[in-house]
Amino acid sequence: MVDTKVDLCGITIDNPVIPASGTFGYGYEFAELYDINCLGTFSFKGTTLDPRFGNETPRIAECPSGMLNAVGLQNPGVDDVIREELPKLERVFHKPVMANVSGFSTDEYAEVVKRLDRSAMSDMIGWYEINISCPNVHGGGMSFGTDPKMAAEVVKAVRWMTEKPIIMKLSPNVTDVTEIARACETEGADGISLINTLMGMRFNLRTKKPLLANVTGGLSGPAVFPVALRMVYQTAKAVNIPVIGMGGVSSAEDVLEMMMAGATAVEVGAANLVDPYASRNIVRDLPDTMKKFGIDSLSKV
Ligand SMILES: Cc1cc2nc3c(=O)[nH]c(=O)nc-3n(C[C@H](O)[C@H](O)[C@H](O)COP(=O)(O)O)c2cc1C
Repeated sequence: MVDTKVDLCGITIDNPVIPASGTFGYGYEFAELYDINCLGTFSFKGTTLDPRFGNETPRIAECPSGMLNAVGLQNPGVDDVIREELPKLERVFHKPVMANVSGFSTDEYAEVVKRLDRSAMSDMIGWYEINISCPNVHGGGMSFGTDPKMAAEVVKAVRWMTEKPIIMKLSPNVTDVTEIARACETEGADGISLINTLMGMRFNLRTKKPLLANVTGGLSGPAVFPVALRMVYQTAKAVNIPVIGMGGVSSAEDVLEMMMAGATAVEVGAANLVDPYASRNIVRDLPDTMKKFGIDSLSKV
């Protein structure tokens, strides 16, 4: 028997496979397809203080081996998430969930964490994943994740609001991601997750206009895997806190490769949109793939 368990910031999860924020809704939608308790955990949709409709359409474009998205953090707002979404999730998911928090100011990040942490649903939350890397919104999002001082300010603000582990989700759209990761660690972050999407764009040859209404979007999917792997490797060497690797992961082999690069756990994003069973299949394939490569325990990759 191989051991797929890993310790993520003091919480043991059955396996390191975590559907990534924005590609798995609030989880219960996928529970109609399979028992989502087979997952290590999952990160729910980026949640902001107020409800957001997101960007104008078209906001998705296909690319070779990947996709561009400019969804722009569509979500019902934190109070609705507490009142409507999490009670629905509670009925079908019996493990700690990762709460993905987004914001447009340091105060907003802190307020969203505060409301979740003091809510009746707080016991469901295992970790906060603080998204300081969304490339598709203006006046916030990625700007916090491209400046070490601003990233540190966000950590400091949310640190006050919770005793649960704080995982800072970083952007690949920087020259040196390790500088940002170290700033977050110094300020008290418990973990780092990366990568969010890489900024990109495409044109429609007929209209001669950008395909996305937002003009630019974030590239994800298998095309970004080598870039993500490189950044996970550099970050895992630079910090002493756990790193969650993501970007283009679509198989159990990819999960092992991410862990060899230094990841403690692995998120799966765009693959869930291609095949809603992708994360379940990766969990299913993991033990045999470990055996194939002579790996007995994922805590010792
Ligand atoms: C449609 C879509 C929506 C996303 N929304 C969020 C979000 O709300 N919060 C967040 O932190 N990341 C969001 N992401 C980024 C993913 O969680 C992930 O970091 C990125 O897509 C790279 O992984 P992948 O190549 O496996 O998709 C989104 C990605 C996609 C494709």
